[in-house]
Amino acid sequence: MRSIVCLMAVLCLVLMSTAAVHGQGAASGAGIKLPEPKYDGNVSVEKALKERRSVRVYKDSPLSMAEVSQVLFAAQGITEPGRGLRTAPSARAQYYLTVYLFAGNVTGLKPGMYRYVPQGHSLTLVADGDARGRLYKAAGQAPIDRAPAALVIAGSRARATNESWMYLEAGHAAQNVYLQLVPLGLGTVVMAGFNADAVDKAIGLPAGERTLYIMPLGRK
Ligand SMILES: Cc1cc2nc3c(=O)[nH]c(=O)nc-3n(C[C@H](O)[C@H](O)[C@H](O)COP(=O)(O)O)c2cc1C
Repeated sequence: MRSIVCLMAVLCLVLMSTAAVHGQGAASGAGIKLPEPKYDGNVSVEKALKERRSVRVYKDSPLSMAEVSQVLFAAQGITEPGRGLRTAPSARAQYYLTVYLFAGNVTGLKPGMYRYVPQGHSLTLVADGDARGRLYKAAGQAPIDRAPAALVIAGSRARATNESWMYLEAGHAAQNVYLQLVPLGLGTVVMAGFNADAVDKAIGLPAGERTLYIMPLGRK
């Protein structure tokens, strides 16, 4: 009996430490499985390249979970589960990025700040409630305030042995999002013109993480 109790205690400790490593502690809530993304579409890469544009004005209309799923998959989705490789390249496959979704008007998703978890293609609630206002105030750029949702692409300064790799990786993920939005009829703009310390603090990024890009998302 005593050995069973010991075994249970060890198991609990292992589970708790795994959750801590992945930043999914009790405060962050349970995972929300996203709809399976589509792996085919009607718009060629050539057309998406031709039509990609930065968009700063959005319709007052909600995004769907299918759209959010597709956008997050484009940013950091896993395309080779065996090796954990993703839609965007990464120096030495170290994957320094974390993508956060700031949902305000997404059908079927309560307003909040979510972390995208590529393994399992899911969202983890980080903070309840609409945080777009905080993001907008800290970054000082109006399109964030008017968009139904926004992405924050953050990089791990704590893990990046070469900090510039983290920024380069963000560029790849952001361009994937730009191109994916063309067939979806959505728009975005990459934003890096803000005080990153102020934004990190306003949205409560974990220590060691840095906001690299903000990308408001909305219907054109
Ligand atoms: C590194 C970087 C930072 C940028 N920062 C901002 C920004 O803070 N705010 C903004 O409205 N646009 C920003 N942009 C978007 C550019 O203004 C935009 O890409 C440029 O005007 C060309 O337009 P296009 O993207 O439609 O081709 C940024 C682009 C890059 C590559």
